[in-house]
Amino acid sequence: MNPASNLILVGPMGAGKSTLATRLATRLRLRAIDLDHELVRRAGASVAAIFADEGEAGFRARESALLAELLADDGLVLSTGGGVVLDPANRACVSARGFVVHLQVGVAAQLLRLADDTSRPLLARDDRESVLRELAQARAPLYAQVADLAIDTDGLSADDVANRLADAL
Ligand code: S3P
Repeated sequence: MNPASNLILVGPMGAGKSTLATRLATRLRLRAIDLDHELVRRAGASVAAIFADEGEAGFRARESALLAELLADDGLVLSTGGGVVLDPANRACVSARGFVVHLQVGVAAQLLRLADDTSRPLLARDDRESVLRELAQARAPLYAQVADLAIDTDGLSADDVANRLADAL
């Protein structure tokens, strides 16, 4: 990884991107930012409220603008939302502005990790499993397109993943 660049975590919901970003930033003495948290902070509204008021398109527009703004800087460990790779401009931006790590996770682990979550509008349905499978199928090639490194997180603790990643950098 180019030390003057950013470390960017991509992957599906429940892959552990935000937790890992915080741990890595401490280890690497970089600044951790979670794209969704920053978006929510600036909007003064939750992701669910933005989806409800502006539709998914409104959320995606905010997400893309903030991604480009944050990645104009160096020295970040940036955790992104699972859908950030949908926009080709976002894919170009992450590829150009950092070392991209794809955190992989299987649907079974996602269902467990997200069991109590009520904050993600895409999961506000009864058939979570099929939603997660459809998203995985549609997005896996997009994550693969941008990834400099992929780590399968199934069965690993956050510390295990941080160790593997630190070793690989
Ligand atoms: C989304 C993932 C969420 C959040 C929003 C949409 C997605 O982020 O950006 O609910 O499209 O997969 P996490 O991946 O951090 O859960």
